[in-house]
Amino acid sequence: MNRSIEAAETAESAGGPSRPSSLVVVSNRQPYSHDRTDGELSVDEPAGGLTAGLDPVMRTTDGTWIAWGDGDADESVTDETGRVRVPPDDPSYTLRRLWLSERDVERYYAGYSNQVLWPVCHGANWKVEHAERYFDRYRDVNERFAEAAVDTADEDTTVWFQDYHLALAPRRVKEECDAFCMQFWHIPWPGWDGFRRLPQREELLDGLLANDFLAFHLPSYVERFLDCAESGLDATVDREAGSVRCRGETTTVGAFPLGVDAQRRHEQARSVPNGFWDSFREDHGIGPDERVAVGVDRLDYTKGIPERLAALERLFERHPERRGRLRYVQKVAESRTTIPAYRRLGRTVRDEVARINHRFAVDGWEPIVHLEEYLGEHELAGLYRHADCALVSPVCDGMNLVAQEYVAAQVDGNGVLVLSELAGAHELLGEQAVSINPYATETFADAIEEALGMGARERQERMDALRRVVFENDLESWMDELFETAATIRG
Ligand code: F6P
Repeated sequence: MNRSIEAAETAESAGGPSRPSSLVVVSNRQPYSHDRTDGELSVDEPAGGLTAGLDPVMRTTDGTWIAWGDGDADESVTDETGRVRVPPDDPSYTLRRLWLSERDVERYYAGYSNQVLWPVCHGANWKVEHAERYFDRYRDVNERFAEAAVDTADEDTTVWFQDYHLALAPRRVKEECDAFCMQFWHIPWPGWDGFRRLPQREELLDGLLANDFLAFHLPSYVERFLDCAESGLDATVDREAGSVRCRGETTTVGAFPLGVDAQRRHEQARSVPNGFWDSFREDHGIGPDERVAVGVDRLDYTKGIPERLAALERLFERHPERRGRLRYVQKVAESRTTIPAYRRLGRTVRDEVARINHRFAVDGWEPIVHLEEYLGEHELAGLYRHADCALVSPVCDGMNLVAQEYVAAQVDGNGVLVLSELAGAHELLGEQAVSINPYATETFADAIEEALGMGARERQERMDALRRVVFENDLESWMDELFETAATIRG
């Protein structure tokens, strides 16, 4: 279902017509975590994206959300079965927490999920570590997630798995009960040439094909999954219908690009207090005449941060007049820091920022503001609203929601999106963004220069078009389309 910006502004219902009446969501990350700081209990709320989007659906269905309880005070607020009613200020659904041991986290989460499946799906095969050593624990934890789902589900229930952490759980659920199973795979799906290297490929495909409905962001990921099902299992693939038949079961497979809660981002940006931007600039020593480019990323090697820094360095080399006139604000969030490749990336980025800043420094001015501290949603919205351009340059990304959030927060429509053609979001936004290949340093630098030099009218026209796409394909329309398709499959 596509909706205009105006319609989106008035839409308030969280329960669309096809939303299941009994819903169990299963994901690795939880929507709320309880922590204790200086003896005080605090609740970490969903920062945005999927958890924030699913929360209203869960409230209207009074469903159950099963997830890893990773907060340090999580156990103290749950009952003996790991259940707690959430949201804390208006309890309306059940969060069932699973407890993972250190070894579980090391092998299931940091191990098989993030050092095997993540690199394989993002085409970074050389980063794959110890697939065989980690797999048993991955299977084991998947079984525990599945048991928790079976505990709650019956044949009228829709069990909705999220992501690559849970490829095996659907098979276990189907062995035990007759619930409708669906899964959204939030990252790319690799070609058969990459996927085939996994010794566990058959079990993974078999697990995913236990779902009645399996969804990816893009048609190209669906195509690759169908190739893998055909080559890796004795499966019959109907490409036109988007279905796989294997061992007497049928799975519908389709593309449903995830959107953001555009209206919420728009409102946040619109309500940025007067004076926010002046004080942000002042705090970071950004002069009144300086243009601002922004980059916001989880510190992940798929996000193309070193490649972006290389392009900026080239820009300052070739355009000395930009020194003192352009500031790049880079906000990063640490991620998966127990994994060596992630720690190495963090060091590389910090070192590169320091080197580039040193190289181009003039009279106390430096080209890059590097922020690792927490920025609230409102500050982020303010940054997105006022930045002259956003640099989104992943070397591989299933979708990339930062690109969409930047656009949704562009309430004045003056900014320019510079977007990697290797991000899933490029399929939606590529026509009106300034496209780049993150590895092509020279043309990436040219693209930043083009974005900064673009006339007001062109900027406005491009941003208007981008905003139409982002609002029409927002989180709610994504969910409606998924649930409508699920309802049709269920019959
Ligand atoms: O992109 C896949 C994803 O699982 C997102 O859903 C999530 O925001 C991100 O990776 C963060 O991953 P983690 O849960 O490992 O911090």
